[in-house]
Amino acid sequence: MPKITILPANVSAEVEAGENLIEAGEQAGVEMEAGCFNCSCGTCVCEVVSGMENITEPTPEELDVLDAWNRDPEKYRLTCCNKILRGEVVLRQIH
Ligand code: FES
Repeated sequence: MPKITILPANVSAEVEAGENLIEAGEQAGVEMEAGCFNCSCGTCVCEVVSGMENITEPTPEELDVLDAWNRDPEKYRLTCCNKILRGEVVLRQIH
């Protein structure tokens, strides 16, 4: 099963492939910051420390939001509108 780790709490969980990153983080036991749950506010942004290749590709809408917040999409992603697909993903909460 895919595995998610959330920093700085450094907690992990094994989750179903296709699990939303917010849901996956909450399964690991942390409260994930979020607002709109619709890929438009940017509140849910996290740094992807590793495993970028294991989450869904960004949509144009996500890239627009990341750009508005000056977040490099190769390092930061919105957790409300992406899923873990396989392998391991390590996220760092930045709020
Ligand atoms: S919660 Fe608003 S963009 Fe993710």
